Amino acid sequence: MRDKYRPQFHFTPEKNWMNDPNGLVYYNGEYHLFYQYHPHGTTWGPMHWGHAVSGDLVHWEHRPVALAADEHGEIFSGSAVVDWQDTSGFFGGEPGLVAIFTHHRNPDSDEGRPVERQSLAYSGDFGRTWTKYEGNPVLADGSRTDYRDPKVFWHEPTKRWILILASGQTICIYHSPNLKDWTFASEFGEGEGAHLGVWECPDLFELPVDGDETRTKWVMFVSMGSSPRHPEGSRTQYFIGSFDGTVFRNENAPETVLWLDYGRDNYAGVSWSDVPAEDGRRIYIGWMSNWKYAQVTPTESWRSAMTVPRALSLRSGGERVTLTQQPVRELERLRTEAYQWRDHILGEGGNPLSGMRLGCFEMIAEFESGEADEFGFKVRSSDARETVLGYDTRKQELFVDRTRSGEAGFHEDFPGRHAAKLELRENRLRLHILVDTSSVEVFGGDGEAVITDLIFPESEDQELAVYTKGGSAKLLSLDIFPLQSIRDE
Ligand code: FRU
Repeated sequence: MRDKYRPQFHFTPEKNWMNDPNGLVYYNGEYHLFYQYHPHGTTWGPMHWGHAVSGDLVHWEHRPVALAADEHGEIFSGSAVVDWQDTSGFFGGEPGLVAIFTHHRNPDSDEGRPVERQSLAYSGDFGRTWTKYEGNPVLADGSRTDYRDPKVFWHEPTKRWILILASGQTICIYHSPNLKDWTFASEFGEGEGAHLGVWECPDLFELPVDGDETRTKWVMFVSMGSSPRHPEGSRTQYFIGSFDGTVFRNENAPETVLWLDYGRDNYAGVSWSDVPAEDGRRIYIGWMSNWKYAQVTPTESWRSAMTVPRALSLRSGGERVTLTQQPVRELERLRTEAYQWRDHILGEGGNPLSGMRLGCFEMIAEFESGEADEFGFKVRSSDARETVLGYDTRKQELFVDRTRSGEAGFHEDFPGRHAAKLELRENRLRLHILVDTSSVEVFGGDGEAVITDLIFPESEDQELAVYTKGGSAKLLSLDIFPLQSIRDE
């Protein structure tokens, strides 16, 4: 029997447990996606790096496990780079792939602490086989705990490698000429942003502001682990500022907290390394789950999906420079026929979409707010269930309500309504929405307000409605594209 919750256009492991994306690197025409993987069960267990490759970020070929535990421990999260100039000496003068990851060893006794150190593996055959470096680990600091998730990149102005990793609730920055010898540069994060849980999976990259290559800023991602005190669970925050090869400076007030996503299910996301300059995009993918309930979601032979890959930009205007996200354009390949509506006045109770039945689809809508208190869509619905993707005009917020979305009782913090502040522009709202078998992703405005949420409706919950409450609104345009599956079932 086909697993009813298996996504049709999101990446999932063929079987068993997956968490963070790892080792995201583009090389020789292929996007590599490694991931935290437990090959022997559907809950978190001894960690390996699973592996998949893709030519287009949409269709993925599953590859054998790339890295398995060894005498230094399990393989936790990390990154990969192309060592173009063979600075590491692993490739006899040719370019090759180097993975930098955390070796995690559990304590021998109850009183002990886990040991987390950073190690290397390399591949001279385009990621098909990997050799662990005999000099592992290459970076250790016995005074630190929760010391993990190295993200490495080449910093051209200082002509050296930069490694950032999470250490408790700060980020440590190191540099190296050869990926093997690391020198401490600085530490960021004390008193900055949100500290509701352990910091994990950082990323650091430069982006143009408003597409102007002469005006750039640096973005730091920091994922923050789940804590029993907060119903939100694990979440990713970001900082904007400058980086000179040694120190990252946050340009916002230290207490400012910027969330990457206002849904519950986008964690540990990081960006692809070595995407060619001609392409110019910074592309990232997140783990579409939440440590609060990730291990008890109602799937059978596999557990967890990734978000769709997203392109990141910086936009000025408003109070501060903001990060925006859009699904990568390659996903348009999955579109089938289009349904279009133009200039439709929406009144309370009417539903121009009644009779449509859709499971996996994309929608791009533009609304003009009228007198309505609320307007939006109900997706994956039936008499008994619905997921509401709406806009509250009084609170000026975009929201997803999954309280009645289907199976939701497997964890007390799963049902709920998740909202993001979003101001209308000239009284208008643009929404780009992706609905799969067990998720919704809503990109509001230019993608400055994003909500990613898992849902577990029944397969037959395929009704679709556009609605208003408390008055009318205008649907300026709506394009709906049923999406093809990437699975060959
Ligand atoms: C984040 C994380 C990382 C760690 C990995 C272990 O989800 O906790 O910090 O490396 O998962 O699987």
